[in-house]
Amino acid sequence: MFPIQRPRRLRRTEALRGMVRETRLSTSGFVYPMFVCPGSGVRTEISTMPGIFQQSVDHFLEECREVEGLGIPAVILFGIPERKDESGSEAASPTGVVQRAIEAVRRAKLNLVVLTDVCLCEYTSHGHCGVIEKGDVANDPTLALLAAEALSHARAGADIVAPSDMMDGRVGAIRKTLDEHSLQDVAILAYAAKYCSGFYGPFREAADSAPQFGDRRSYQMDPANAREALREVALDLEEGADMVMVKPALPYLDIIRQVRDRFDAPVAAYNVSGEYSMVKAAVRNGWLEEQRVVLEILTGIQRAGAEIVLTYHAKDVARWLKSS
Ligand code: PBG
Repeated sequence: MFPIQRPRRLRRTEALRGMVRETRLSTSGFVYPMFVCPGSGVRTEISTMPGIFQQSVDHFLEECREVEGLGIPAVILFGIPERKDESGSEAASPTGVVQRAIEAVRRAKLNLVVLTDVCLCEYTSHGHCGVIEKGDVANDPTLALLAAEALSHARAGADIVAPSDMMDGRVGAIRKTLDEHSLQDVAILAYAAKYCSGFYGPFREAADSAPQFGDRRSYQMDPANAREALREVALDLEEGADMVMVKPALPYLDIIRQVRDRFDAPVAAYNVSGEYSMVKAAVRNGWLEEQRVVLEILTGIQRAGAEIVLTYHAKDVARWLKSS
């Protein structure tokens, strides 16, 4: 008890604070999300996400070199296809944008772990994450399409495929297909607890993937549910997921913590587009100090238990940590 106990003793200098710091923010688990589009010489900034671009493969590769140089270990790729159709067939095309982008990174021998987002919403004309039957997203017929997409990403050289569609059984279907094609070393990061969130708004402009009717409530999770997230994680691990993700990050720090405590697999969190845009907008208005709040946000996500963090702030954080 006071006056013997004085917690302020260990807060006296930066050196002391550094020694007793419990969470040491590090970029070693960072994944930088990137959007690849057709053509060449294309570099279009996403209006709601300053600093983030839709890029053709040439510019994409240039930015990959920068990411590598900053010591960020990994990128996750999203594709904006040439054309969209009912079944999102370009998702599994060997000459699709994502496939060509992966090949370019491999050819350039960059030291980057390449993840791909496996989903159909960027590729379907209706913008849903699966095929439509009787006005709804049909689960089982979608599985083969997702497995084919994951297979084509793996064949192009992806290290990790990350299904984000939230269909039941997709992790098992993807694992089986990869194994049947001798791609047993390609890992699966399951978007296991993916909530139906308003914070994906800016991403849907970036990936041109807004649903043309209805919403995603019949497949993405209800924000009110925590126990269900643990069940989703357990099922994905049973089906063969190597790592599991909670998404978004900030309104779901409690879920990250529970998943971390309950399971032994690596846990990822996605600091999503809307979380990034909020910070950028407030900073532009002079309402928040960018470096300070971004470091605080990412420390919070890591403190909650995520060792892997997908974040649009990755390059900025890497620069700040280097210069500090
Ligand atoms: C595809 C997908 C989405 C995001 C990642 N993969 C959008 C969605 O489900 O609507 C969101 C990422 C972000 O907001 O940064 N299904």
